[in-house]
Amino acid sequence: VNHLLGIKYLNTQDIQLIFETTDHFKEVINRPIKKVPSLRDITIANLFFENSTRTKLSFELAEKRLSADVINFSSAQSSVKKGETLIDTVNNILSMKVDMVVMRHPNPGAGVFLSKHVNASIINAGDGAHEHPTQALLDSYSIREKLGEVKGKKVVIVGDILHSRVALSNIFALQLQGAEVMVCGPKTLIPKYIDKLGVKVETNLRNALNWCDVANMLRVQNERMDISYFPSTREYTQQFGVNKDVLNSLDKEITIMHPGPINRGVEITSDVADSNQSIILEQVQNGVAIRMAVIYLLASKIKQ
Ligand code: CP
Repeated sequence: VNHLLGIKYLNTQDIQLIFETTDHFKEVINRPIKKVPSLRDITIANLFFENSTRTKLSFELAEKRLSADVINFSSAQSSVKKGETLIDTVNNILSMKVDMVVMRHPNPGAGVFLSKHVNASIINAGDGAHEHPTQALLDSYSIREKLGEVKGKKVVIVGDILHSRVALSNIFALQLQGAEVMVCGPKTLIPKYIDKLGVKVETNLRNALNWCDVANMLRVQNERMDISYFPSTREYTQQFGVNKDVLNSLDKEITIMHPGPINRGVEITSDVADSNQSIILEQVQNGVAIRMAVIYLLASKIKQ
């Protein structure tokens, strides 16, 4: 398959190959000359129909480090505003001899839909509340780097599970690698289908943090919700926010992750986000090498 549409389409061997390739590219981008000529014959379009800082810049940098030609599209400044459809937009871009599309879109399933209607390799850079596969890959890679392996580790994902593509992709990726997964948050922000995913559910933050090796803190996605769902921000922070006092009260030192963007003082305080227990910026750094690996492996199939 010439796409990365979600972690649910991958198996353990796929993740292992992506991580081995990432190890190589991580070494490459730490050299004085950070580029390789591998993809000089490939053109990639980054299509962002929703805002992004990390994912957008990380994909662009990964593509440039691989020497691909890159074009960037942001729907806010495009003819989508004049009524052009997704398929027409992408087919017009592909007619300029583009080989691969990286797409972020607010609608769940947008990547799968596109893959059935256009002739290009598609990478899902986040589709609504569905999946964010490269984020889950860089998260697992960062756990492996920090703790040696993912297998057997206990990972809790804290916060707005209901609206989070990061949560779903992480659950799939962590389970494939043999980690134990828990979700923790207000009942109103835990989806009903969670029982089918084989994860533990906890509504008490302290219990969750005492159980885990790693806590992945999520932002509450106000932009995706009916405000009536939500406990107030103050209540949310009191019950589910991580601060230094909470961490110091635990029996062991846990690793703190966050996919970004952070709402400092809501789900995480600065003294935790910027502490030695946090690997938040390592996650971002690893994102470039992960995306180089994914693009390189997909491009190898295009070239065959
Ligand atoms: N983690 C993440 O997807 O961040 P952006 O929305 O800034 O890309």
